Amino acid sequence: MNKNISPVKGTHDLYGQDMEKFNYVVELFYSIANKFNFNAIQTPIIENQELFSRSVGELTDIVSKEMYSFIDKNESILCLRPEATSGIARFAAANYQSGSLKFSTHGPMFRRERPQKGRYRQFYQINIENIGEKSPYIDFEIIYIASAFINKLGISNDKYNLLINSLGSAEDQNNFSKLLKDYLSQFTKKLSETSLSRLNKNPLRILDSKDDGDREILVNAPKIRDHLSKESKDYFSKIKMFLSDNGISFQEDDKLVRGLDYYTHTTFEFQTNEEKRQNAILAGGRYDKLINMISTKDMPGIGWAAGIERLMALIPNVNKGNNSSKKILLALQKEEYLNSLNVLKQLYQSDFSHEIKISNNIKKLFSYADKNDFDFLLLIGESEIQSNEISVKDLNKKIQKTHSLTDFNLKNEIR
Ligand code: HAM
Repeated sequence: MNKNISPVKGTHDLYGQDMEKFNYVVELFYSIANKFNFNAIQTPIIENQELFSRSVGELTDIVSKEMYSFIDKNESILCLRPEATSGIARFAAANYQSGSLKFSTHGPMFRRERPQKGRYRQFYQINIENIGEKSPYIDFEIIYIASAFINKLGISNDKYNLLINSLGSAEDQNNFSKLLKDYLSQFTKKLSETSLSRLNKNPLRILDSKDDGDREILVNAPKIRDHLSKESKDYFSKIKMFLSDNGISFQEDDKLVRGLDYYTHTTFEFQTNEEKRQNAILAGGRYDKLINMISTKDMPGIGWAAGIERLMALIPNVNKGNNSSKKILLALQKEEYLNSLNVLKQLYQSDFSHEIKISNNIKKLFSYADKNDFDFLLLIGESEIQSNEISVKDLNKKIQKTHSLTDFNLKNEIR
């Protein structure tokens, strides 16, 4: 006997109601992205690993521990993308002409994390990115779109918080990193192993350590907001003003440094109120250093990504189709009856979602229609053929009528 093969750990199949929800989230996302003039893009799932070690950062968990990397037959080191921003930035650097390039995308990402509810090794993200221009309005707009999207999904605003922070310019970050490192160096004996390993190369990341001992040490650590340049502070103030003016509530969180190294200035995260680790549903920020880390070009960018599975967990089931697309079952008692039909042609030309079922057992056809949520059953059985008729049953209203097969008009009868 052959053994069953299970899905790879941390991956999952999407089907039925899950697939309906998935498509609903993706379609709603693109409708909002289109409204704000973002253009859809798909970048490859496999990339050169170097793209992510340069952009996301060699010392991050994503690159150092969670990448699915492999050596290709020609010896190049490739990987499955852990996120979409770097691939889009690579494309933008190569194709930029002027103004803003505005991108929307969705697709699978891969991180070899420890799987748990809401955390997968293959998961799906939707992303928007605005590359090439910089202004507080652009930062605000990106956050506004996120908020509009979450509201449109029907996730009410008492279910989540928007956290925002500013990491300042690259220069601000360098200066602050030195201060923070000096402060934290007094506690090398008490810092967690992970934080200690970050102390020299990336002390900023220590700020979002989840370790209780680290958190205690961080209470008296210098605060990034006290060490931003005037320019960076003004930039951040304008974004906060736009958010308030447009009724978007937020909380400032100066520990929000994010797990990817490319951020400067604005960072933000929409988190659910639930007390669990996987509570980030949508996150992003400004990445003015990124393009120059992966290309000879230098231009600003900002964007966000949301985990589709995490959004799906927060919305109710969705109904497939709408009233304008009734679901029809055309049931025939014999295969030959297909020939005599202009009904089939009319079905093919219509927008109705439909299925054709052939069975000698009429009872079976009716029960199939009932079990599979059809709205109408069109029946051509032996008796219908003899009288040159078709029976039409409205399965919701439970009304059945017969019509002449010769001049049957599908659109007139299905409403
Ligand atoms: P990120 O915070 O790594 O950012 O991921 C964004 C979102 O993807 C998270 O908030 C979460 O909803 C979802 N997510 C991440 N990892 C998993 C996982 N293992 N399982 C399920 N969902 C997950 C980025 O990826 C950046 N590229 C965002 C960005 C775009 N920044 C600028 N532009």
